[in-house]
Amino acid sequence: MRSHLCGEINEELEGQAVTLCGWVDRRRDLGGLIFIGLRDNAGIVQVVVEPESDAFADAERLRNEYCVRIKGTVRLRPESQWNESMATGKIELVAEEVELLNASEPLPLMMTDDDGEEIRLRYRYLDLRRPRMQHNMRIRSKLNQAIHKHLDGHGFSEFETPILTKATPEGARDYLVPSRVQAGQFYALPQSPQLFKQLLMMAGMDRYYQIARCFRDEDLRADRQPEFTQLDMEMSFVDESGVQTAAEDLVRAVFKDVLEVELPQPFPRMTWRDAMEKFGSDKPDLRYPMSLHSVDEHVRHLDFKVFSGPANNDEQRVAVLRVPGGAQFSRKQIDEYTAFVARYGARGLAWIKVNDLDAGIAGLQSPVAKFLDDTAWNGIAEVTGVQTGDLLFFGAGDWLMTSTFMGHLLVRCGENLELAKEGWEPLWVTDFPMFEWDEDSSRFMAMHHPFTAPQSDSAEELKTNAANALSRGYDIVLNGAEIGGGSIRIHKPEMQQAVFELLGIGEQEAEAKFGFLLDALKYGCPPHGGIAFGLDRVAALMAGEPSIRDVIAFPKTTTAQCPLTDAPSPIADSQLTELHIGVVAKPESEST
Ligand code: AMO
Ligand code: AMP
Repeated sequence: MRSHLCGEINEELEGQAVTLCGWVDRRRDLGGLIFIGLRDNAGIVQVVVEPESDAFADAERLRNEYCVRIKGTVRLRPESQWNESMATGKIELVAEEVELLNASEPLPLMMTDDDGEEIRLRYRYLDLRRPRMQHNMRIRSKLNQAIHKHLDGHGFSEFETPILTKATPEGARDYLVPSRVQAGQFYALPQSPQLFKQLLMMAGMDRYYQIARCFRDEDLRADRQPEFTQLDMEMSFVDESGVQTAAEDLVRAVFKDVLEVELPQPFPRMTWRDAMEKFGSDKPDLRYPMSLHSVDEHVRHLDFKVFSGPANNDEQRVAVLRVPGGAQFSRKQIDEYTAFVARYGARGLAWIKVNDLDAGIAGLQSPVAKFLDDTAWNGIAEVTGVQTGDLLFFGAGDWLMTSTFMGHLLVRCGENLELAKEGWEPLWVTDFPMFEWDEDSSRFMAMHHPFTAPQSDSAEELKTNAANALSRGYDIVLNGAEIGGGSIRIHKPEMQQAVFELLGIGEQEAEAKFGFLLDALKYGCPPHGGIAFGLDRVAALMAGEPSIRDVIAFPKTTTAQCPLTDAPSPIADSQLTELHIGVVAKPESEST
């Protein structure tokens, strides 16, 4: 139907007859001439229809988003009319024939960035026609291709794993599918292919990968969808560095292929403890030139309980964030930051404005300056490297909670003051705690997942010191986003049993849920490990989009609905009966 793509037309085709197909992006009538922005998957080209042309009457009837075929001749625009921002900006197509392929009703949305999310998703097929979304989807497709190309060349085989399966614990609720043939029984959709990829290693497949759909019924945010895509990988006979090298090589190759960006080699590494201590986050964003400073030793002696209490307690800390230029913050801005950290449990946020560094304590403006002495201030000034015109924020209290709220504060200040460096900052975070204590259920939860190996080889040692045990898990972080996580796995049944026990999973429950895994571990399971990348997150970073919804063709809303198809939706009583299911109405109190 066509000879070229709209976005491909350039000055080299001057004088040639071409036939293009696409949509009317915009139509303007200017003094007898009609200009049409004709758009397809490759870009937009300007079409001119002259009044004497046979095509004029047809062109007059066109409206936005009409689908058309246009024959014409490529003409160089006069230099004064070149549009350098368009790939096709030096030429235009002089139309000779305009054929209407299909008209469009008046549009239900503007097809700009100003459209609301709900309407964009309801008419996703129109929203996706926009150049921004076409670009995003193309990045995503290129990303997938680059992954296949790299991994196929590095000894990885691609296998699919079941979608109708049994629960795999990754810390979220399962999506369940009722069985018609087995009354009262349910499949779970996989939260990840974790157990199957381990079984593939036990099956001697050596190096596996899969671009796999995962399902998690969890609270949704900009970086979380109920169904999302992982690049899932697993390798046999490797340690941490084996997996990390393979993963890094892949990330570097893919960034080179898709964005022509060179990432560093190797990626820097940081332990979880250091990441929390210095950045208050297990996914530090190294683009911000800021870190947290520990000042315990400098405030320990003060007669100010807010600081001296935590400074003298091994499980607490006093952390300081230096905000360059922050002395200009208004009282209102400081109050906003205080309210912001309160969301993460902070009971206060002390601050000091340094109006004149050379004047010592007299040069400070702060509600807490009166509690300081010269020793304390000199120590604080030295560790933070504070300068005149800066502001210091202080967090004091429980080590993890304080680190966490100060970490959020760091990013918030960095964003507000636009301090992020350009470019890409990848990072491995390693040496995670094996378990975290869950206050609500009074038990340990796996920090990664229950199949992650501890650093200690001894099950006995693990049991005696579970609270401080470190795991062989690692996360990969890019510009402050957790883009992937993985671990070396437990490959011995005794250790797997011990970890289940520590997680409060009794022998019977372990047998019922994971008997097949425990069995498989008994038959010469190789040491193995792997990683899974959140592909939606990688694609969003590559496309410069803050939300993964903008790199997914048909995403769900934050209430896990699809406005386009209207899923989820009720089903017929007959279907329910067939599935042996009765629906219990939602109590009034829970209705939204
Ligand atoms: P994990 O649970 O860390 O590990 O998931 C791996 C990566 O998947 C992405 N991700 C998500 N992306 C979008 N929406 C979600 N709801 C969502 N949840 C997770 C993140 C995350 O880093 N089986 C292990 C991997 C392994 O051990 O090999 C796993 O699933 O980018
Ligand atoms: P207070 O003694 O509670 O009035 O607090 C005195 C100062 O210390 C105020 O500026 C508070 O914002 C600050 N502050 C109180 N608790 C904390 C905390 N946990 N971390 C940091 N600053 C705090």
